[in-house]
Amino acid sequence: MSDKIPGFSTLAIHAGAAPDPATGARATPIYQTTSFVFDDVDHAASLFGLQAFGNIYTRITNPTTAVLEERVAALEGGTAALATASGHSAQLLCFHTMMQPGDNIVAANKLYGGSINQLNHSFKSFGWNVKWADPADIATFEAAIDDRTRAIFIESLANPGGIVVDIEAIAALAKAKGVPLVVDNTMATPYLCRPIEHGADIVLHSLTKFMGGHGNSMGGIIVDGGSFDWSASGNYPLLSQPRPEYQGIVLHETFGNFAFAIACRVLGLRDLGPAISPFNSFLILTGIETLPLRMQRHSDNAKKVALHLSGHDKVNWVSYAALPEDKHHALQQKYMPKGAGAVFTFGVEGGYEAGVNLVSKVELFSHLANIGDTRSLIIHPASTTHRQLTDEQKTVAGAGPDVVRLSVGLEDVDDIIADLDQALSG
Ligand SMILES: Cc1ncc(COP(=O)(O)O)c(C=O)c1O
Repeated sequence: MSDKIPGFSTLAIHAGAAPDPATGARATPIYQTTSFVFDDVDHAASLFGLQAFGNIYTRITNPTTAVLEERVAALEGGTAALATASGHSAQLLCFHTMMQPGDNIVAANKLYGGSINQLNHSFKSFGWNVKWADPADIATFEAAIDDRTRAIFIESLANPGGIVVDIEAIAALAKAKGVPLVVDNTMATPYLCRPIEHGADIVLHSLTKFMGGHGNSMGGIIVDGGSFDWSASGNYPLLSQPRPEYQGIVLHETFGNFAFAIACRVLGLRDLGPAISPFNSFLILTGIETLPLRMQRHSDNAKKVALHLSGHDKVNWVSYAALPEDKHHALQQKYMPKGAGAVFTFGVEGGYEAGVNLVSKVELFSHLANIGDTRSLIIHPASTTHRQLTDEQKTVAGAGPDVVRLSVGLEDVDDIIADLDQALSG
């Protein structure tokens, strides 16, 4: 191999993988085993003491999952990664590593509805507080940060509204305050946007969506950007103080620029347990091999559909950053110039009833609560994903009564448009 750094498409196929040393198998094998035999007692002791890397038990590491972790770390430009059972469990383990009871997360109010619930309700029972800020107004982040803030949390491209966030501006604030910036990059994927290059410290994904890409496997991942100094403030004791269960080692001191990924694994995943199945790691790895092709086609199809809907007499507005008149277009050109992804919202004439009617009439589109499938998907957030939120939270989150969300698939775009036209005409 030459010294040239491989391009994105090459990494999507090869990063982390090699022919299986035992069998020569070219595709990454599925190591469907719970546990791994030790060479001898000393080997076992060194694995348990974190003095050697290796496999003990699939809750903590697995060779198929390790390839997935290395591949996503390479695609995001991070130092290491930890895969988990779902996007939500990646969020749980990430914040578990940063937070103590009484601490808070300053989060963008434009997030996936499930993340708003997780922060507003479940995380509160751990004593972790949330303070909401508006990603369109950086001053609201600055105002919300206090001496118990341990993380800033945003989505690069916010679900459901097609909102592009000014990552560099928020990263600069995070750096000035000594707080890590955590970016959920699920909707953009590293093909469209690489938040670490714009100053993010940690990147999260629901691998369930575009990374796996085929609507068949749940997964999540935490990517360590390797940039944050976990010891400077003393506010991250899991990383900066001796760990009694590991002979008093200090994780940040021992593991340096990949200490966060290690801490999420050897403290969070070990004790809270949401491990991804090796079979899902295999399916997601296979999906990632075609990520660049799929994301480009998703984005190209979505732009054509958005342009069509913006001229439709049953549609009042379209929120899609790739449209030149969209208020996020300049940020899209800066952060994701190859395209604005598959997902966008529009307002159907006739409000709540018309939204419910549309999702009942589509035939090619599937009415379900997911994004990032090869198939085109549709949902009316106010009656489904966002129904637990108050009316005010729904509107703030971009899920008002007339809002319909599409995840435009990889079918022929003429068929996608024809299906929406027939459903809107009814
Ligand atoms: C942007 C975003 N983040 C996180 C999640 C949670 O991921 P999962 O469903 O894999 O737990 C979702 C799920 O829809 C999402 O859209």
